[in-house]
Amino acid sequence: MANVCVVGAQWGDEGKGKIVDWLSERADVIARFQGGHNAGHTLVIDGKVFKLSLLPSGIVRPGKLSVIGNGVVLDPWAFIKEIEVLRGQGVDISPESLMLAENTPLILPLHGELDRAREESTSVAKIGTTGRGIGPAYEDKVGRRSVRVADLADPATLELRIDRLLTHHDALRRGLGLEPVDRDALLKGLSEVAPKLLEYAAPVWRVLAARRAAGARILFEGAQGALLDVDFGTYPFVTSSNTTAGMAATGTGMGPDSVDFTLGIVKAYTTRVGEGPFPAELQDETGQRLGERGHEFGTVTGRKRRCGWFDAVLVRQTCQISGVSGIALTKLDVLDTFEELKICVGYRIDGREIDYLPTASEEQARVEPIYETFEGWPGTTAGARSWSDLPAQAIKYVRRIEELIDCPVTLLSTSPERDDTILVRDPFAD
Ligand code: IMP
Repeated sequence: MANVCVVGAQWGDEGKGKIVDWLSERADVIARFQGGHNAGHTLVIDGKVFKLSLLPSGIVRPGKLSVIGNGVVLDPWAFIKEIEVLRGQGVDISPESLMLAENTPLILPLHGELDRAREESTSVAKIGTTGRGIGPAYEDKVGRRSVRVADLADPATLELRIDRLLTHHDALRRGLGLEPVDRDALLKGLSEVAPKLLEYAAPVWRVLAARRAAGARILFEGAQGALLDVDFGTYPFVTSSNTTAGMAATGTGMGPDSVDFTLGIVKAYTTRVGEGPFPAELQDETGQRLGERGHEFGTVTGRKRRCGWFDAVLVRQTCQISGVSGIALTKLDVLDTFEELKICVGYRIDGREIDYLPTASEEQARVEPIYETFEGWPGTTAGARSWSDLPAQAIKYVRRIEELIDCPVTLLSTSPERDDTILVRDPFAD
């Protein structure tokens, strides 16, 4: 049985929701392996809209096991709220259908406060985070002072963990002009949510190993995109987790051989939320038009997304870094009505031409895109379900993308509707 890993291959918001939903219908187990409630996945099932930030997309489908892996950072209150909202929409959620890794680190209110205080401070460059405490929670994980799900089971351990954490945070907060953390209120809050979290806690690595041995199909659901990866993204303007496919193994407790097919989700143009370099950005009417046609507003923060032409240099790079087997190309229909389209095929810097994004952020900010120009297409690609439904110019555009990124199109999505998809190859059938 093939297991599939889905990752964003740009700066997130590539339209993963629809593709993940399409794949989760075919999977038995759906596992999140990184990020937290900074993600925003919208699913439309039988006309009903579900908005997920933290829970795996499989949660809305009966008979599936949804798993939150240890690579995620989990806000207990956001977790409980999301479950309640979904239950209110008629979704059945139980410890049989949802499991939470016992070694998952928690996001506490102090993490969100620190995240926002730093973003508001003028002494450091703004990252443009979602303000959800993701970065500070990951810092505490590698700093070995996190409170993890399993710690909630024993009040004495929980107190020890909190004291260790507050020694660090209160010092930091003093420097930022924040009040010390109210220890008793924090402990009380955690004691209240503990039973609700522990209900779902499980040794996820064992459960996944057993399911795999029994022949289950596992879908690893990535959040954000490769260019926000803490190692390979546009550092420091990145999120604080590894968003590339390698994390699927570490973030769930499965080995590197557990992924058989990596599907990179790629939008037919480029967007980015937050600060940081964006070589093919269009700060003109064309960029505005892409944003309007593509409804490019953040699902989590409502922020307007920056828009630009398709950047083949970046996607070739991220496909290599994530070991992408094939891509799902989304939102092609947004490009309908454009008389002319461009694809970035290389960069110019200091009089040289290069075919990769340099690592130094100062150079990333300076590279100038080299474009190839394409004729737009007449009519619409919206709703196309086979290649023969597409205008010749649209096929040429897609084929050129495949050539430039050195990776085949596995799926082509031509509208938010799940059936408006051209399937070239079923990733699970490998
Ligand atoms: P953080 O993940 O909240 O720390 O934010 C760090 C960067 O990642 C910011 O530029 C955010 O806009 C971006 N980011 C985080 N989550 C998402 C997402 O789901 N889609 C797109 N960008 C995201």
